[in-house]
Formats: sequence, C-alpha cells, structure tokens
Amino acid sequence: MEVNRFSAQLTENSFGLSKLSIQSQLATAEIYLQGAQITKFQPKGESDLLWLSPLSHFDGSKPIRGGIPICWPWFGKHTEKPDLPQHGFARMSEFRLKSLYQLDDGTVSVKLQLSETPETLALWPYSFLLTVGFEIGTTLTVSVTTTNTSTRPMPITQAIHSYFNVSNINDVELKGLEHTKFLDKLTQQTQQLNNQSVSINGEVDRIHTTHNARLQLQNKERIISIEQNNEDSTVVWNPWIEKSETMNDFPDHGYTEMLCVEAANTEQNKVIKLNERYQLRQSLAVTH
Ligand code: BG6
Repeated sequence: MEVNRFSAQLTENSFGLSKLSIQSQLATAEIYLQGAQITKFQPKGESDLLWLSPLSHFDGSKPIRGGIPICWPWFGKHTEKPDLPQHGFARMSEFRLKSLYQLDDGTVSVKLQLSETPETLALWPYSFLLTVGFEIGTTLTVSVTTTNTSTRPMPITQAIHSYFNVSNINDVELKGLEHTKFLDKLTQQTQQLNNQSVSINGEVDRIHTTHNARLQLQNKERIISIEQNNEDSTVVWNPWIEKSETMNDFPDHGYTEMLCVEAANTEQNKVIKLNERYQLRQSLAVTH
C-alpha cells in the first residue's frame, strides 16, 4: 500500500480549547488537549465509533461529555475525599503535545503528556508523568501510561472511559463478559454473569472483573471489537431515561444511542513503585 501523508491541524475555539484534527487515508480523528480526550474516530468508509454529546460543554467549565475521557488518578469518587472531582483531575487538565508522526503502515501516532503542577499537587500529593497515546489507523489504540516520578509508591485507579455510538441501545449485545463477576453500582451487590451476552434494557452501572478482555459490541449493522490490556475491570454504563434527564450536558434521549465500555483499574491495589511505568490500553475497530 502506498502511504499518503496525513494532515494535522491544531485549532482553538472561542473559549481557548485546543483541538487536534487528524486526517489520513485510514481515518479521521479529533483530540482535545483538555483531558487528552479523543472525540472523533472515524475509519474510512465507517460512521464515527465514538458518541459525543451535542450538549457537551466546550468552554473548559466541565469535562467534555463523550468520546474517550481519561479518568485518572482515581476512578469515580475519591475514596477518602468525596468532594474532589469525580474521575480525577486529568479530564480537566490541559495536556501538552509530545509527539505526532506517521508509521510506515499509515497509522498516525499522537502522544500527549501531563505532569504535576501546584494545582494537581494540592489535590493529589505525587509527582508523575502521564502519557496518553493514540494510534490512529483502521484500529484506534488508546494507551494511558503512568510513570511515578515521586519519592514514594503511588496508588492509582483509572479508566479509559469510551462512549461508543450504537444505532439503537435495544439491539445491543455485548459479548466477552460471560461468567465474569460484577459489582452492580446501583445496588452495591456483587453478582456473577451466566453464559449470556449483556443486553441493556434499563440503567446500568457495573464493574466487571476482567483481565485483557476481548469484547464484541454488536449492533444491527456492525460489530465493534474491543481489546483491552492490563485492566482489572471493565465498566459498563448507560444512564437510561431518568439519569439522562438530570444531566445538563446529556440529551434526554442520548441514552438510546450510546454505551460506555471502559477499560479500567478500579481495584484499590494498583500501586506504582518509584520510577515504574504502568500502561493501560484499549483498542477499538469495526469488524462487521
Ligand atoms: C461511569 C461510572 O464510569 O461514569 C458512573 O461508573 C458515572 O457511575 C459515569 O455516572 C459518568 O460519570 P461522569 O462524572 O462523567 O458524569
């Protein structure tokens, strides 16, 4: 295959939010530097794999609703200080562009980085290097690499919080979680799935125990394959009707067209040693 050069453009909206737009012969993608958040991934000939709320705030006042937020250095509520921002501070932090280049097969590689600042140290007392990588080809791979640059062991929880576009939530089947244990966050009960795939017919907020999961998100017209590495959990979330109505950045009927399937480390035992690196990864591709 002859590889054509890709194009990349960095633009700023009227609120000062910077967005990197990438176009190659394989895919189109858009990534905000706020949160290192990819909001569009459209392989050639396909519709966008990622759901993005039309009511999302793009003014820096709230995390962007949709695409793939990076929840870091904690997932959900902070265990000791529930007043701290839900899902950590990375979603609201401005990352710097570290590298941007094309591989021989046409895939575009983007790396964004964040390190501690006086503001992050006030929330979380560790110095760190956080690198979010995107490999944009017919497959999108998102990697989150944490390096502990502080002077003591660093506990983290985290998630690659992907919002997938689905044509109709009622037709969705998520395969690959058969027989896993899960915590139902709505009832706080732990249960075990049987040999059936997951279908969604009400609010769902579950943390499944998984490791290197291979999942298939099946819709009427396409199958998205999801490969994860180094996660201890897969989070499945859909707010359904009532919760959607309480979120001002989420359309009332948005729940019919999205499902979050998140590669996560939610167990409280992930401790990164001094100078150690830990990488969490999720890859997505259409397989039909
Ligand atoms: C999911 C959580 O990962 O994210 C849910 O399991 C949460 O409990 C959802 O409601 C959305 O969170 P937020 O902070 O983006 O509204």
